Amino acid sequence: MTRKEALDSIKANIENQNMIKHMLATEAVMRALARRFGEDEEEWGLTGLLHDIDVELTEGDMSTHSKLGADLARELGASEAMVHAILCHNPTHGIPLETKLDKALFCADPLTGLITAAALVRPDKKLAGVEARSVKKRFKEKSFAAGANREQIAQCTAIGLELDQFLDLGLEAMKGIAPSLGL
Ligand SMILES: [Fe+2]
Repeated sequence: MTRKEALDSIKANIENQNMIKHMLATEAVMRALARRFGEDEEEWGLTGLLHDIDVELTEGDMSTHSKLGADLARELGASEAMVHAILCHNPTHGIPLETKLDKALFCADPLTGLITAAALVRPDKKLAGVEARSVKKRFKEKSFAAGANREQIAQCTAIGLELDQFLDLGLEAMKGIAPSLGL
């Protein structure tokens, strides 16, 4: 599967542009994590890109979300490692996180929401001016972007990153694709 094929399939299945941006942001964070760990950047990036591909097809039904996505990813030619990471990123299924790829996607997913919110509260609504220390401060404000699950983000320690390192990496990764995110 090429990145273009993955993106074309996402665009065919998702109308909400903010959701597509969330998936692009997750891709960027996953690529940065793969580079940090010497893992397969394409595999990790495409896992992030595809992880919510079924979000509109499943219409908010968490009992099917990510199961359908895993099937769609497999049909597109994703490896079984990618399929498993997509499947278990929805904790509703109770499928244990096993691999480093599983764990990376699990903590990268909510981080994108926190960083996006940190940009959107700025007057210019741009990522460029967001500093690492402000993301760290926002992380501790539980009511800020409450949907960005802090415990899940903090699971970055399971892949060997301290929280501050992970927040830095995520912020830099998203800044790197800021125009695509409209931020
Ligand atoms: Fe997601």
